[in-house]
Order: sequence, then C-alpha cells, then structure tokens
Amino acid sequence: MSVSPQPHLSSNPQLVHLLADHILASPQQRITFADYMDWVLYHPQHGYYSRYAEKIGAQGDFVTSPHMGRDFGELLAVQMVQLWHHLDRPQPFHLLEMGAGQGLLAHDVLRYLADHHPDCFQVLEYGIVEKSPALIAEQRQRLGAIASSGTVRWYTWDQIPSQSLVGCCFSNELVDAFPVHLVETQQQQLREVYVTLGPSTDDLPQFVEQLGDLSSDRLCTYFETLGIDITHAPYPDGYRTEVNLVAQDWLHTVAQRLQRGYLLTIDYGYTAQRYYAPTRTGGTLQCYYHHAHHSDPYRYIGQQDLTAHVNFTDLERHGETVGLSKLGFTQQGLLLMALGLGDRLALLSNPATVPDVQTLFQRREALHALMNPMGLGNFGVLIQSKGLTDVERQQPLQGLHHPPL
Ligand SMILES: C[S@@+](CC[C@H](N)C(=O)[O-])C[C@H]1O[C@@H](n2cnc3c(N)ncnc32)[C@H](O)[C@@H]1O
Repeated sequence: MSVSPQPHLSSNPQLVHLLADHILASPQQRITFADYMDWVLYHPQHGYYSRYAEKIGAQGDFVTSPHMGRDFGELLAVQMVQLWHHLDRPQPFHLLEMGAGQGLLAHDVLRYLADHHPDCFQVLEYGIVEKSPALIAEQRQRLGAIASSGTVRWYTWDQIPSQSLVGCCFSNELVDAFPVHLVETQQQQLREVYVTLGPSTDDLPQFVEQLGDLSSDRLCTYFETLGIDITHAPYPDGYRTEVNLVAQDWLHTVAQRLQRGYLLTIDYGYTAQRYYAPTRTGGTLQCYYHHAHHSDPYRYIGQQDLTAHVNFTDLERHGETVGLSKLGFTQQGLLLMALGLGDRLALLSNPATVPDVQTLFQRREALHALMNPMGLGNFGVLIQSKGLTDVERQQPLQGLHHPPL
C-alpha cells in the first residue's frame, strides 16, 4: 500500500465524502483507479467536467485546438465536405461529434458549412454525444440559433439506433479523457491499482492505493493482443502504466451505430511500442490544474483534469475487430496543412485580407500553434471507415494527402 503523497489541497469535500461512501460500499472496500477517475471527472454533480465548464480555455486549466480560433473547425469542415462527396452526397449526412466540450468546434464547422457549402449544410444532421450536463448546457447556449433550426441535436448512445448513421463520427481530445485502469508489475505479475481509504488525518477521508488482482481478464488480453509483455525484462519491476478499456467499448459502440462512413479521432498519443516503452516507467497519466501539470491524482479532487495519452495502435487493432478499417494515420499539423492551413497563412501576408495588425498577429500565432510539431501539431489523427465499397475506400482523402516537403 502506498499513501498518496499529498492530502486534499482544495479538493471538493462533498465529492471526497461521496467517494469514501462509494468505496466503503464496494467489494473489499476498494475501487479500481478507472472507477475513481470516472467519479472525479464525471460524477453528475461534483465531477470536474460536471461543474467546471469554464475551466476549459485560456482562463481555465487547459486549451484545445478549437480554442485557437475558427481555423481548426473550418479546416476539418473542408475534409467533411469531401467525405460527403465520397459517400455520394447522402441525405441526410450525419456528423456526430463526441465529447464536444464547450461547442466551439461544432460552432466553427457548422458556420463554415452554412456559409461555404449550403448544399451540404442543408442535408446535414449534426449530432452531439456529450457526457457532462454542464457542457451540454454551454453547447446549447453557444449553438443557439443553429441548434434551434433543428440541424443540431443532442443524443445519448441509447437514442441512436443501430446502423443508423451515414457520415462521419469524430472527436477531438475525447479518448484521452476516458477513465483508465492503472496496472503495475510486481514480481513478474501484472497487478491492478485500486483506490481505498487510508487513515484519516484531518476531517476529510484520505485515499490510498493498493495493488490487487486484475479486475478484468481484458487487462491481460489487452497486452497479449499488442504482443507486449511488461512483466519481464527489459521492463523493471514496479513498471506502472494505464489501460484504456473504455476506448475499446467506445469503438464498439461507434461501429455499431455507423452504417456507412468514417470515424476521425484526433488526440495526443503514441503507438503501442512508444506508449509501453520500457523506459516509460510511470505511464502517461497527467493532472491539469491552472495550466500546470503534475502526476498526483489525489490532489484537487474534482477540481483538476486527469488525462492519459491514447494508444493509437489499440484503436487501430481493436477497430478492425469491430468492423472499422484503418484508412490512414497522420499528425494534426500535416492534416491541417493538407486541408489548406498553409494557404491561410499565405493569405495573412496580404494586408488587404487582414483588418488590423492585432488580428494578423493573433491569427498567425493560432495557425502556427495548430501545426506546432512540439505541441498541437504533433497530435495523432486516425481515420477509420466502415461499410464502404472497395472503390470508396480507395478514394484519396485530402487530409491524408501530404504534398512533398
Ligand atoms: C478534453 S475535453 C475536449 C473537449 C472538446 N472536444 C475540445 O476539443 O475542446 C473532453 C470532452 O469529452 C467529454 N466526454 C468524456 N467522456 C465522454 C463520453 N464517454 N461520452 C461523451 N463525452 C465524453 C467531456 O465531458 C468533454 O466534453
């Protein structure tokens, strides 16, 4: 058992007490780390994403690509119009955004399509699947007029019939926000990290970690499927990492709802070989609080974001098992360049296209940030498809077509 190094600095006391009750009511009075992460991020009243809509963005704990301005959404919309054509202009054309945050991306995609591709916009059904009630409220507010015209609807997965979607399901920084299991090696065994109650040192319960047997055989299968054995050399004893089983369940759900079309996933992550490199002994779990990051998930409980990198190899391989075939993988910077980011930068050098110097600097900075290879530009973009004919699968996608450097 290892006591978490920090007590509850500015944790949400209500959430801490509820979590303690949940742990006491659970078998062996412990919960998996994945369950803990689900509670602290998504508890319906007190979870980070349920209470702190305003904590995403420049004034909050972290920013995402849509916060850089409208270019990200507009460039993705360019790709979506091409997908619509590739699918032979279906009516309706479904765009399903999963984990839409504050609705910025939806706003920029919808505005761009309405203004530049009215034929596509007219047949568009834009759906949002979002877990946080607070963020749904913010999305509704932001999308106001467009949403009331009926183009945008909010769904739970249960409300989307099987095989009903023809179009593109997509997400930006969704998969990194899924709760992950923590595993650790101990004497050449794969063990799971559980969260339980420790001795109380102040009036708030304390959480401590405990290693135990795996909560699911899927954790073993996960590594077997990847052909990676972290229990033996060169992996050191005590090697700790994460397993994102929710990502696999999510792929299954998407594939089940998608009749014909695409799944586009943008996130930070690695291939399995890099993710589970023997030298990455502490995994990738990160906590974000006021734009600073650290690795203690037992601080600021309910007030900080928790996230883990995405294993793109697993998304690809597991995708294949549920009927999603890989069409391509690229980096965000390359994707956006192929969709016209370079042209947008070039336009900025023409003073007639920019209202004032401040706008010029802001847009230039935003465009550079979106393709920065040390930052957002290095995010992975995985495009998978389902239900396409061989001819449709072979149609080149603009975002994956990189001009020679
Ligand atoms: C890191 S934020 C990214 C928000 C937005 N896509 C952006 O780029 O700014 C993760 C988002 O995914 C949502 N989310 C997490 N798990 C979800 C799930 N299982 N289903 C739907 N939304 C989920 C969160 O509530 C939040 O809106």
